[in-house]
Amino acid sequence: MLALTIDGLVHEAKADEFLIDVINRNGSKVPQVCYHPQLGPIQTCDTCMVEIDGRLVRACATRVSEGMNVTTNSAAAGAAQREAFDRVLSNHLLYCTVCDNNNGNCTVHNTTKLLAVDHQEIPFKSKPYEVDNTNPFYRYDPDQCLLCGRCVEACQNVEVNETLSINWEDPNPRVLWDGGKTIGESSCVSCGHCVTVCPCNALMEKSMLGHAGFLTGLPKRSLKGMIDVVKGIEPEAGYGTILRVSEAEEGMRESRIRRTKTVCTYCGVGCSFDVWTKDRHILKVEPGEGPANGISTCVKGKFAWDHINSTDRLTTPLIREGDTFREATWEEALSLVARRLTEIKAKNGPDSIGLISSSKCTNEESYLMQKLARSVVGTNNIDNCSRYCQAPATVGLFRTVGYGGDSGSITDIAQADLVLIVGSNTAESHPVLATRVKRAHKLHGQKLIVADLRENEMARRADVFISPSPGTDLIWLSAISRYLIDNGLTKTDFINTWVNGIDEYRKSLEPFTLEFASERCGLPVDTLKNVAHMIAAADRVCILWAMGVTQQSQGSDTSTAISNLLLITGNYMRPGTGAYPLRGHNNVQGASDLGSMPNNLPGYQSVDDIEVRARFEAAWNVTLPSTKGLDNHEMVAAIQEGKLKAMYLIGEEMSIVDSNSNYVKDAFSKLEFFVVQDIFFSVTCGYADVVLPGAPSLEKEGTFTSTERRIQRLYEVLEPLEGCRPDWRIIQDVANHLGANWDYQHPSEVMAETASLTPLMAGVSYEKMEGYKSQQWPVAVDGHDQPLLYTQKFAFPDGKARLFPLHWVEKTEQPDVEFDLHLNNGRLLEHFHEGNLTYRTEGIRQKTPDTFVEVSPVLAKDRGIQNGTWVQLISRYGKVRVRALVTDRVHGKELYMPMNSAVDPVNALTSSRTDPVTHTPAYKETSVKMIVLPEVGENPLPPTNSRWGHPTPQQGVEVERKWQRADYQIPGPQLVQIQPRPAR
Ligand code: SF4
Ligand code: SF4
Ligand code: SF4
Ligand code: FES
Repeated sequence: MLALTIDGLVHEAKADEFLIDVINRNGSKVPQVCYHPQLGPIQTCDTCMVEIDGRLVRACATRVSEGMNVTTNSAAAGAAQREAFDRVLSNHLLYCTVCDNNNGNCTVHNTTKLLAVDHQEIPFKSKPYEVDNTNPFYRYDPDQCLLCGRCVEACQNVEVNETLSINWEDPNPRVLWDGGKTIGESSCVSCGHCVTVCPCNALMEKSMLGHAGFLTGLPKRSLKGMIDVVKGIEPEAGYGTILRVSEAEEGMRESRIRRTKTVCTYCGVGCSFDVWTKDRHILKVEPGEGPANGISTCVKGKFAWDHINSTDRLTTPLIREGDTFREATWEEALSLVARRLTEIKAKNGPDSIGLISSSKCTNEESYLMQKLARSVVGTNNIDNCSRYCQAPATVGLFRTVGYGGDSGSITDIAQADLVLIVGSNTAESHPVLATRVKRAHKLHGQKLIVADLRENEMARRADVFISPSPGTDLIWLSAISRYLIDNGLTKTDFINTWVNGIDEYRKSLEPFTLEFASERCGLPVDTLKNVAHMIAAADRVCILWAMGVTQQSQGSDTSTAISNLLLITGNYMRPGTGAYPLRGHNNVQGASDLGSMPNNLPGYQSVDDIEVRARFEAAWNVTLPSTKGLDNHEMVAAIQEGKLKAMYLIGEEMSIVDSNSNYVKDAFSKLEFFVVQDIFFSVTCGYADVVLPGAPSLEKEGTFTSTERRIQRLYEVLEPLEGCRPDWRIIQDVANHLGANWDYQHPSEVMAETASLTPLMAGVSYEKMEGYKSQQWPVAVDGHDQPLLYTQKFAFPDGKARLFPLHWVEKTEQPDVEFDLHLNNGRLLEHFHEGNLTYRTEGIRQKTPDTFVEVSPVLAKDRGIQNGTWVQLISRYGKVRVRALVTDRVHGKELYMPMNSAVDPVNALTSSRTDPVTHTPAYKETSVKMIVLPEVGENPLPPTNSRWGHPTPQQGVEVERKWQRADYQIPGPQLVQIQPRPAR
């Protein structure tokens, strides 16, 4: 810490702080148009000039020093601030009263007021460009653009999509997309970073336009007339009067615009943000304070919310009558559910019933589902969809380090010296987390190695990209481990202190020579050595992996191999290190944490542990089943065998997201009684006997747990649509109709009960998670949480980690003469899974209207395929008809099909084979033949998809180019000390 003086008062500051942050913290008011704390100094606006020892400096770019004497309001500083802001205003037509950005947080408005500007010296000069409306979600108005460059900085260095720049050398600079394309034709991925940080109305969400203000919805001509009136009175009345009028209008808005914090309902990154609503209209999503994301979102979190008000929401319970459904009252539906489940239980026993919870639902709902299964139905047949993706990673970590969760936070990943990504399309599947890697790689010298079948965005950015043969990750990971041990490149001190089993582990590595790995994985020995040396040389390594690893028949073992590698290189127990299985759904971590698993009560407490059961039995006043139940894969098999007769499933499109979907659908058609709870009539609902209308995340309260074990609250943004109920209420209703006597009035009561029974979450409480606060488990009774999972010890009785010996098994399904192509599958940036939510957002549909199969240029040439050619893919289990997209993202005989189709789902092709440890389907082990059909349709990716764009990477806004303009002058008296661009 050091001391400095600001306007005569002494303040403390950290040695590396920017002066502007210290000024802001201590209450002095200095204008700052281009500064945003999460972007750092941009230095385009010059409005933050302050005086230090007789020299003017930009406060945003000046690091504090001991004894610094700062004056923010000297005559020289004031003149410079005012002059700089005048130049800003010359770029912007000020018409606050009729502006949708007049919501109290407009930087231009607030700075005009702060500097008491009544008349601008430099008149507004219109820019010779049209408004760009070509993106479905936001628009750019050059006439309102201040040229502050915040958007460019956010796009270049936070999102790191590198679409935006400013043509500083042009007589009329503006923001450019891909160097001068329309937004719609550019590489813009619609993440919304630029819109979020824009300090005015130049970039705005289209959902705000005409909706936020009382007068802004007027027809365009009338609006223009109003703007003319505002401008007309300015010379006489001055801005002071105009601002007072606009502030009155802004005050009126406060009564009808609500801002409610929620957590994203899509992936497991855990972005949180405020949702602005006017009645049921979603005005915008505004990120800012989220502990995982700050100002960041991806297109889904920022813009994909139209499903909330979709006209095809389920709003009444449905009861099957023959081949159709009829509407029913809640009482009728719940009574039927209770009667049929009671009958089936009486006849066949409790284990003839299965329950499936949802990783889209809240922790509290997951807790109640497993409580319903165990304490009311009397079965451990309860599972969730982590079975389909995350269970193998959890096993790999349980085996080696003791907890089944990410070993640090996203900030640790950003700090690492080297990030190794295995089998994860991070930029599309976990977009905001990927931005932190892209930024560290671009700006901070982080090294990046990517191992994937496909050359995805992260692979293209990587220092080293390797593409091992399908399903061989365990081999090369183990070979590298062996090479490191044999060449003395491991961290022996760490191993000696913290790790058991090195000798047995080394023995198990005997078959994994580099030569063997080279032959089986198709990778040069030198490449493998290079990867090994890079890992050994890096001080801090994080390994990220996802479904490319886990959805294989050796998914658990490969996850284990990753953790083994981290252990021998000492990459646990320190910031910037660790294992990061990237959780897929928003609450797939929480669904398992809260006990929706056949073998574990909440907090991974085994159902066969007498003491654990006794604790829950005492609390719930029941006798609990003591043997492991069926997981969801086993439930499907048990239906086929006639053992499982009834099922209650919430919030899962299981009939198309489980593998071998034809087999699963066939099973569902054999159930005697099937209850499905969802917000839309999904494909799975088509097999139900009773459908119950739940509520989406924006219509309920509760918590989600993200990939970094971060538990966060979501608040009710909108009341549930009439006829729907929050899922926790429905589960309680079902329980009570089955004879339970639950009386939860709010999800916080469920969480309090969870905490009281679950040591892992003993100190979790709604109070401690108020607003944007969060807790990362394990949480001690006193509320102390653990962002870094292992600091004092590993989660085994002796505190030491365990190396887990492995052996290699050939994958279950190989291509042959008939099924000659390997089919890979996964996510797409714009859609979430099958698209039940995302297809309901029109803009998403425009960008990605359908699924497709990616075909390599070589294979396309060989088979006479072009973009849009219809092909039939046939596996041993089913077939789909789909259009081809020719792309060098895939190589040779590799195909890739995204999951975004309910009509021709990729899972019509996948098998029922699984990882034997977890029963996670080996989705990625699929062989197909491809029949080229005569029709050629449109390119499945329209020209407006970001993939067709051409980004323009640069180091940021490149303000130096502005400073080199002949017409640029430093504002204020010529005392200025120009700061060199500081390190970020
Ligand atoms: S990718 Fe598009 S939406 Fe995202 S910051 Fe860049 S220009 Fe803005
Ligand atoms: S569009 Fe970009 S440069 Fe223009 S005002 Fe907004 S953030 Fe600043
Ligand atoms: S989908 Fe994931 S990355 Fe995108 S906003 Fe939601 S949580 Fe964030
Ligand atoms: S805030 Fe814009 S230059 Fe400092």
